[in-house]
Amino acid sequence: MENRFKETMNQYVSAVETYLQGCFTDESQPQRSLFEAMRYSLLAGGKRLRPVFVLEFCRLCGGDWQKALPFAAAIEMVHTYSLIHDDLPCMDNDDYRRGRLTNHKVFGEAEAVLAGDALLTAAFDTIACAEADPDVLVKEVQILASSAGEKGMVGGQVLDMEGEQKKLDEQGIFDIHIRKTGALISAACRMGCAAAKATEEQMEAARTYAEAIGLAFQIRDDMLDVIGDAKKLGKAVHVDGSKNTFVSLYGLEACAKRIEQENKKALEALSVFPDHAFLTDLTNQLASRDF
Ligand code: IPE
Ligand code: IPE
Ligand code: MG
Ligand code: MG
Ligand code: MG
Repeated sequence: MENRFKETMNQYVSAVETYLQGCFTDESQPQRSLFEAMRYSLLAGGKRLRPVFVLEFCRLCGGDWQKALPFAAAIEMVHTYSLIHDDLPCMDNDDYRRGRLTNHKVFGEAEAVLAGDALLTAAFDTIACAEADPDVLVKEVQILASSAGEKGMVGGQVLDMEGEQKKLDEQGIFDIHIRKTGALISAACRMGCAAAKATEEQMEAARTYAEAIGLAFQIRDDMLDVIGDAKKLGKAVHVDGSKNTFVSLYGLEACAKRIEQENKKALEALSVFPDHAFLTDLTNQLASRDF
């Protein structure tokens, strides 16, 4: 089982890496420094969790996962842009990401903002140019745009920043988590379903799974700021001091309990898919991840 999980994971991740390696390489353009800044963060070796969700949900819904690679790459571009902007001095002001200096530390703030802008835009170009039925492409665009924008990730980042000036209650913290992190994770799962023209039932199951796993993922991220190792994480720890996190509200023990509860919900949602062994293993690993 363990070997089978690793094999599938490696297959997905290396296909994504190969796809991304081919992006933003046009040597004929004079703005090479922008391409360099985009590739610097995009190819810095993140976990590629969102692309893996796209590919696996496509497979689970009966589609050819290789055909979903452009959609997997697109969401990783949006995620990478969100990280570049999240690290800027005007936001979290972080110096390390994915094991290297943050984008603005290397290329300067203005170029980092623009590299993020360009990655966001390129994501939609990547979807539009994919080989799939037009109705699939429209659905992919709609899911990604609505999840990344003002009601999703960007909205969550605003709530996160506003929260720094005040003490939030549990609902306030969940409002942040489900938007800033949950929305893109949900998008990834649903984009995979859409690539395979999934049934309404499959789409709903993916949504329920993702809501639970997305919340658990950000709670674990908040925990790792306290108990994690900067080397393993590739980013600094003990930097969330002024933030409202689930850890600051309830402490580590309650966080671990909540992750367990959310994981249970996520695993229950997978029963719709007969062949869910890979996703079950992935879900269990995420609960106790240390990177
Ligand atoms: C980090 O996301 C930001 C959050 C939403 C918590 P990941 O932990 O997935 O970062 P990478 O992609 O592996 O670098
Ligand atoms: C980031 O949340 C969510 C994004 C939309 C990028 P965090 O600010 O907690 O992510 P890290 O800890 O910097 O990766
Ligand atoms: Mg942040
Ligand atoms: Mg941050
Ligand atoms: Mg964090």
